[in-house]
Amino acid sequence: MENGTKKWGGGVHGQDLETPSNITIKGILSLLMASIDTNDKRRVISLGMGDPSAYSCFHTTAVAEDAVVDTLSSQKFNGYAPTVGLPQTRTAIAEYLSCNLPYKLSPDDVYVTAGCTQAIDVALSILAHPAANILLPRPGFPIYELCAAFRQLDVRHFDLLPEKGWEVDLHAIEALADNNTVAMVIINPGNPCGNVYSYQHLNKIAETAKKLKILVIADEVYGHLAFGAKPFVPMGVFGSVVPVLTLGSLSKRWIVPGWRLGWFVTSDPTSVFKNPQIVERIKKYFDICGAPATFIQAAVPRILEQTQVSFFMKTINILKQTSDICCDRIKEIPCITYPYKPEGSMVVMVKLNLSLLKDISDDIDFCFKLAKEESVIILPGQAVGLKNWLRITFAIEPSSLEEALGRVKSFCKMHSNQQNRYQATNNQPLN
Ligand SMILES: *Cc1c(COP(=O)(O)O)cnc(C)c1O
Ligand SMILES: *[C@@H]1O[C@H](CO)[C@@H](O)[C@H](O)[C@H]1NC(C)=O
Ligand SMILES: *[C@@H]1O[C@H](CO)[C@@H](O)[C@H](O)[C@H]1NC(C)=O
Repeated sequence: MENGTKKWGGGVHGQDLETPSNITIKGILSLLMASIDTNDKRRVISLGMGDPSAYSCFHTTAVAEDAVVDTLSSQKFNGYAPTVGLPQTRTAIAEYLSCNLPYKLSPDDVYVTAGCTQAIDVALSILAHPAANILLPRPGFPIYELCAAFRQLDVRHFDLLPEKGWEVDLHAIEALADNNTVAMVIINPGNPCGNVYSYQHLNKIAETAKKLKILVIADEVYGHLAFGAKPFVPMGVFGSVVPVLTLGSLSKRWIVPGWRLGWFVTSDPTSVFKNPQIVERIKKYFDICGAPATFIQAAVPRILEQTQVSFFMKTINILKQTSDICCDRIKEIPCITYPYKPEGSMVVMVKLNLSLLKDISDDIDFCFKLAKEESVIILPGQAVGLKNWLRITFAIEPSSLEEALGRVKSFCKMHSNQQNRYQATNNQPLN
């Protein structure tokens, strides 16, 4: 048995894939869903997952739907596509991304993937070699840890600093990196923190990575979903300082996560990745990946070229509105606070103050009791690497968000050890 597990199960680099550090967001959310009280007649509201496609206010644009209908019914795209992606799809993605860069990407820089998730797998698989390590943010996005475990890539975590707008702790990067460090990962706009990095901070990240001779993997799946003071700046802007692997997809900006269309892009004007051996290695890896559905790929040029600015503005405006609602409601709940108002993506991290609660042991306990008692799902911070924090998704219809946070407020009141505090607020006139 011992040998059996070593060989087949537990041997993923000595890490057990079932440990909390390797639990996936989807995994924990389904456990929470299973603990919902079926006698509760109220509807279940999930602030857990970043997929708002079910809400009518987050419906994708007709441009995207029409493009897919047309490519499907044309009967021209029922066959296999090249494993690196259709040429016209690579060209369209190169042009779309080049709009925000000081140089032009070539179609050969672009590889089409099954969502950003597969782009993450490609990046980590290509870079993995015995003894290699990678620097990942904490809090972060657990797919990176899971992928690294499968690829036997050692993980070292650097902190994001809540008091500095979740900026990267660059001193930590310098302390963690060694000769075997292959890359550092940044997620901008941020998941799970909802932060957007300034040009200046990205420049510092580039300079640090250059000094340490490591690549930057930039997860820009939330690219352009910025609604605060700072504009979204792609990491590829610093591609001549340090080679950047840009990962993205249609999933979040077009709100079609089920279409599974993403990209892995070498934003690398100095041509480090143009080395024929590296190109060959990447292409071979794509041979085993299998490209996303050909008719979806074929629709990409029209989707990228013809989507109206008004669709993007509508999404940005709703996210701004729901993030404001979210922060206003959180302010009314004493046991949770947010250190930084979200400026992008669809999520915010809030800190749990357990000393105000009488019978909650940690963030996981909080989320399970909340699911059971209030039929509201929230992601415990441990799922993204921060104990006693919570990640709240605000990309849901405003009235559902209000209702869900109202229930969180009652829940916190029920479990509060500070009854006086709530009575004092309740006795105040409403206006
Ligand atoms: C949603 C998300 C992904 C996965 O994107 P898909 O295109 O759905 O595969 C990757 N990274 C981050 C940070 C995400 O939030
Ligand atoms: C890292 O590489 C440098 C330069 O090649 C070398 O001087 C140094 O000893 C190496 N450090 C370790 C820990 O191997
Ligand atoms: C938790 O709440 C108590 C009481 O309001 C406060 O004194 C304490 O500073 C809070 N702790 C944190 C970490 O915010």
